[in-house]
Amino acid sequence: MKTYIITGGAGFIGANFVKYMLATYHDVQLIVLDALTYAGNLGTIVHDVDGKCCIFVKGDICDSSLVTGLFEKYPVEVVVNFAAESHVDRSIENPRLFLETNILGTQNLMDVARKFWAVGKDDKGYPTWKEGVRFHQVSTDEVYGSLGATGYFTETTPLDPRSPYSASKTSADLIVKAYMETYKFPATITRCSNNYGPYHFPEKLIPLIIKNILEGKKLPVYGDGKNVRDWLYVEDHCKAIDQVVRFGRAGEVYNVGGHNEKQNIEIVKLTIDTIRHLMETEPAYRKVLKTDLSNISYDLITYVKDRLGHDQRYAIDPTKMKNELNWAPETSFETGIVKTIRWYLENQNWVDEVTSGDYQKYYEKMYSNR
Ligand code: NAD
Ligand code: TYD
Repeated sequence: MKTYIITGGAGFIGANFVKYMLATYHDVQLIVLDALTYAGNLGTIVHDVDGKCCIFVKGDICDSSLVTGLFEKYPVEVVVNFAAESHVDRSIENPRLFLETNILGTQNLMDVARKFWAVGKDDKGYPTWKEGVRFHQVSTDEVYGSLGATGYFTETTPLDPRSPYSASKTSADLIVKAYMETYKFPATITRCSNNYGPYHFPEKLIPLIIKNILEGKKLPVYGDGKNVRDWLYVEDHCKAIDQVVRFGRAGEVYNVGGHNEKQNIEIVKLTIDTIRHLMETEPAYRKVLKTDLSNISYDLITYVKDRLGHDQRYAIDPTKMKNELNWAPETSFETGIVKTIRWYLENQNWVDEVTSGDYQKYYEKMYSNR
């Protein structure tokens, strides 16, 4: 039995990871540590799959005594750090919180792990580590900055973050890398492109567009809609992280991406087309519509003021994942987007629950002046 702490397991990717791990393994104990910010919700935590459970602990990754208490109570061998402030637009409004959680939280987790996992010193004075332990940092391709029309991010592309969010994630990566060098701390980093799938909070492009279409609300497209993101179905990301944690080499960075580049406007149009098609061919779905079916059209698209410092294009070269760990994405965008939309149509109560707090206030603040 291997014990994992999964931070941020009540958020989008963390929850999908918990689900994947419970569905895949019998011999893991998963402790979810999550502060339940606006982005983390009790309704998102996957407590059990086929009778297998995770343990949920509400708390902040910056809280040293709380994290220490978890290491004292459980024989933790793996930490997978998903917890973060994750939305670029919010980071433009309030950078400080991003620096606290994303940088100091990561450092705090590593410091506690260091204390519990070090077993001695080698002849040069480097710590030696308990067999089988691993710290995994879930990072992003946004640390590489922005691409022009051509080229891909590889693991050796210079770090060039542009937003407060990506700068905080880059700083966290640098701290992890510093610990790898200074203490030979057994860590790995994955840098992934944009994810989509179930449990995605409706402040990010795809779930926000789905929600607005169902309500007949305008679809805010920033700038000219031609910015490109490289989309990956979240379960493929979860499989990649699992591979890296189990078989990746400590001290290494791995890029994870789907070779699925799309302009934002293409995504918005495809989402409109798919929802309309599902409504027409499977009328049972119409019960979740809060508008007339005839309103679901490209007329909903509204070009709005661009995001400040909007990165033009992200595109990942995942060759290292393929060559070293035999990982490749399994879900095409065309399949994944239909699965995702169906999930939202069938889980409107989840959407209602996670948007029942300050969501409306947030939405008005972010979009009323655009
Ligand atoms: P999310 O915003 O959906 O979830 C983040 C979770 O972290 C929430 O449950 C929140 O409650 C929790 N959290 C926030 N601050 C915390 C704190 N101080 N202590 C404990 N928990 C805290 O984010 P996500 O989209 O699931 O992203 C997960 C990770 O993956 C992040 O590190 C993000 O940078 C990275 N990432 C995301 C994407 C993407 O497309 N979503 C792509 C690449 C990398
Ligand atoms: P987002 O989902 O916020 O992810 P990220 O900024 O981390 O890539 O945004 C994806 C793309 O969609 C990005 O280019 C910004 C754009 N976008 C819109 O055009 N309208 C929106 O309402 C949102 C939230 C994003």
